[in-house]
Amino acid sequence: MYAYRHHFHAGNFADVFKHALLSQLILTLQKKDRSFVYVDTHAGLGVYDLSHPWAGKNKEYEFGVSRIFAADDYPEKMEAYISVLKQQNDGDMLSCYPGSPVVAHSLLRPQDRLVLNELNKSDSVQLKALTKNWSRTSIRNEDGFSLTNSVLPPSERRGLVFMDPSYDRKDEFSRIAASLEVGLRKFASGVFVIWYPVIDGEGGNELIKKLQLHSSKLLLQAEIHLSNANFAGRMNACGLLIINPPYQFESVVNIIGCWILKRLDPTGNGSIVNRLLTTSLESK
Ligand SMILES: C[S@@+](CC[C@H](N)C(=O)[O-])C[C@H]1O[C@@H](n2cnc3c(N)ncnc32)[C@H](O)[C@@H]1O
Repeated sequence: MYAYRHHFHAGNFADVFKHALLSQLILTLQKKDRSFVYVDTHAGLGVYDLSHPWAGKNKEYEFGVSRIFAADDYPEKMEAYISVLKQQNDGDMLSCYPGSPVVAHSLLRPQDRLVLNELNKSDSVQLKALTKNWSRTSIRNEDGFSLTNSVLPPSERRGLVFMDPSYDRKDEFSRIAASLEVGLRKFASGVFVIWYPVIDGEGGNELIKKLQLHSSKLLLQAEIHLSNANFAGRMNACGLLIINPPYQFESVVNIIGCWILKRLDPTGNGSIVNRLLTTSLESK
């Protein structure tokens, strides 16, 4: 059941899209001085060695971070993410890929706090070792979907919950929806960000249909669809659902999405989805 290992996929186009947007979400929260908490429900290892045989199996990073790392024409909205990549790698040599905990930690201010959770025991041990000198960081080893109950609402009353499950169970969307229902009851103003794969054009809509929201909410559906020439049956589209998105975050999605698309898919056959939706109790 828990066979998923992110090392096989580290640095692929999905990681680039999600982490570039995550960086900007964090920077947007930092426009106010007040502290916030970053909660990572499915944190993974924190950092991935790209010379590891698992990363080398399909070399997914070649159609992802490798094409970004070499760029020098990136827009300002990509700068924070690319500087994390550079900090984690020596010079121009791309040897490791920073996962969401490292991306977040690199951008957080001294007043902000991290809660990082990983269910896989050995991954969690590695994450703990990686973060042993990080301040204001707690590591947990529980079912990520239970965090909305165990760590919310945060004492800061401000926060971002990043949910990046492995989708190795058929009922993942239902489990996400149930976890969000609890999270939004306890922390209605929180920014909740959920990554999902898009298979046969479906993913975001399916997840949105499952949500049982108890008050009107703004949702931003941000997806990247690459043409499938380089993917040979593998996932070539994915998205982030952002609940309570920052004001006008669609423009950030547009800049980042279009630029990544241009770098990763010069065929011009890819596309992005950038849709702001309002839900209400009545429409459920
Ligand atoms: C897609 S990876 C996370 C990648 C990470 N968020 C990043 O961006 O670098 C999903 C992770 O969830 C872990 N996992 C699987 N089921 C889980 C669960 N129920 N609760 C918490 N973690 C889980 C897996 O071991 C895997 O490390």
